[in-house]
Amino acid sequence: EGVVATVQWMENSGVFNAGKGSVLRFDGRSIQMDAAVAVFDGAEVKQGAVEIVEDVQNPVLLAAEVMKTPHVKLGGDGATELARKLQLPGHPGPSKLAIARHQRLLKRIDQKGIAIAAPGWTPEALWLLDSEEQGENGSCAAPAIMGECDTVGAVALDAAGTFALAASTGGMSVMLRGRIGDVPVRGAGWQIGPMGGVLATGIGEHIIRLQGADKVYRLLELAIHPQQACEQIVQLFDPEIPVGFIALTKDGLGVASNRDMPSYPPMEE
Ligand code: GLY
Repeated sequence: EGVVATVQWMENSGVFNAGKGSVLRFDGRSIQMDAAVAVFDGAEVKQGAVEIVEDVQNPVLLAAEVMKTPHVKLGGDGATELARKLQLPGHPGPSKLAIARHQRLLKRIDQKGIAIAAPGWTPEALWLLDSEEQGENGSCAAPAIMGECDTVGAVALDAAGTFALAASTGGMSVMLRGRIGDVPVRGAGWQIGPMGGVLATGIGEHIIRLQGADKVYRLLELAIHPQQACEQIVQLFDPEIPVGFIALTKDGLGVASNRDMPSYPPMEE
């Protein structure tokens, strides 16, 4: 409940790329969001996720509801249908920040002459556009440009030794309708188990390819401190690709990123 409420608060703030603040898809109209919730209670992992869900203000609440069903993931229309049955609020539509971000992106694509869904549409073109967007707007940690930030997540440990995590995202700034990122993918956007909980942020395609959260988790199993584990796995990524991890174990917390991604407690200078 604590991690879901925390992520719901960030979704409602409209300043992050999640929930109300989600970015637009490349078609300039669609908002499709991913979210995941997972718990390790000492015996088993419970999980729920939604993928490319539309017209829901709080995908994290829906992911938590999926966790109560016999299913693990719901996607697209079926996920929205469940949200309506549960009377979860619909999405208010793109924020001013999301519209401005999309317009900037279109301009940049035009300037670079990149044709979407054509031979020039390579992974390199995609991350170049995305990282230039970050670069032009400076540090993601600066409050004035919080709307440029990425996936949100929270991980917690309670007094009974239960780990829980939740994450939510509107995706990334350059993506086709129907694209699914790392957030609903166990081992990529998140991992949980007896050692603790790990969450990722950054460009989902790269996090999925390298199975980022799982790699951090495997280091925790080797008794490596979560801070060191997050730092080591960030190093595996091309520095041009924005990525970050948070990890929590019974012994401590880890936060590492190759960008100034906001985190609590704040990253050291
Ligand atoms: N990390 C968010 C995404 O790529 O969808």
